[in-house]
Amino acid sequence: IRTLGLLTAGGDCQGLNAALRAVTLAAQRDLGATVLGFHDGYVGLLRGDCRRLDRDDVAGILAQGGTILGTGRGRAEQGAALDDLVRRSLQQATALGLDALVCLGGDGTQRFARALAEAGLRVVTLPKTIDNDIRGTEVCFGFDSAVYIATEAIERLRTTAHSHSRVMLCEVMGRDAGWIALAAGLAGPAHVVLIPEIPYRTEAVVAALQARAARGRRYSIVVVAEGARSAADAAAGRTQKHAAALRLVDELQDATGIETRLTTLGYVLRGGAPTVGDRLLATELGLEAVRLLGAGVHGVMVGQQHGRLVPVPLAEAGSGARTVPPEHRWIDALRRLGACLGD
Ligand code: F6P
Repeated sequence: IRTLGLLTAGGDCQGLNAALRAVTLAAQRDLGATVLGFHDGYVGLLRGDCRRLDRDDVAGILAQGGTILGTGRGRAEQGAALDDLVRRSLQQATALGLDALVCLGGDGTQRFARALAEAGLRVVTLPKTIDNDIRGTEVCFGFDSAVYIATEAIERLRTTAHSHSRVMLCEVMGRDAGWIALAAGLAGPAHVVLIPEIPYRTEAVVAALQARAARGRRYSIVVVAEGARSAADAAAGRTQKHAAALRLVDELQDATGIETRLTTLGYVLRGGAPTVGDRLLATELGLEAVRLLGAGVHGVMVGQQHGRLVPVPLAEAGSGARTVPPEHRWIDALRRLGACLGD
């Protein structure tokens, strides 16, 4: 591989720069390749908008948040048909003499990478997203940092909740999956954790808060995933991000008579430096991507299964969001610790 393309697509998260650094250094050292970094995700590839990445370009970025290449969800190209986007991407790749491409991205990125690979480009991807919802891997970089930030926020909310005898709702990101809410709910800890996978009943949450109040605990922490939904909404097939937290803040205050406040953590969870865990994971995944390409393996995402790095076919990685299975041990752990999951 003489020329290797590199891009970051989808929402940003912690660890992207650590992975870019690892891929760039290893591609130069182990493969002797020239690395081209595309700007702003797949849009950069479609427009041939890239720059050469050398040692100096990735020096000092390991712990830096965001992505030095820029990223995006390709919304500028939203109307275009997939096969047209693939054709134009391949034209640019040929014009630039790309021998292979490494894409760092979430669910959507994996799907587009799969289409590029099926059209003949050598592609290896890395799983990045705070949501932790990519199939074929048990962990994505960004997740550990997001959980760390959410946990710290819960600790801070607890002091105000306690001082004012309030219910504190804390909404966390995660799209249609409850991974961040569950992990932060365990580590925070939270007294109620609501996730999209378990539709909640407001009465169950009210009963949990009232039971705490009856034991003399006039404060409570309720972690709500942005995609959480009530049993009624789930039955009607309605999903609307943020709806649960916005509604619950009044419903819980009215029903319990306890002052209730909402904090939405939002993009704070995606920002700033990666944790040590994410630095290690992103670096190792980046190195493994280059090793696989050097060994002639492509059309895969580098995933982690049972603690080991494995090549996962893009057909699997790009096959939709990985939500939390009902039997997951974090759900069981919360229940055994006495937390309410809203059901
Ligand atoms: O996928 C990561 C994520 O941060 C989700 O948790 C969130 O729902 C979404 O991206 C927000 O997307 P955007 O950056 O397009 O507003």
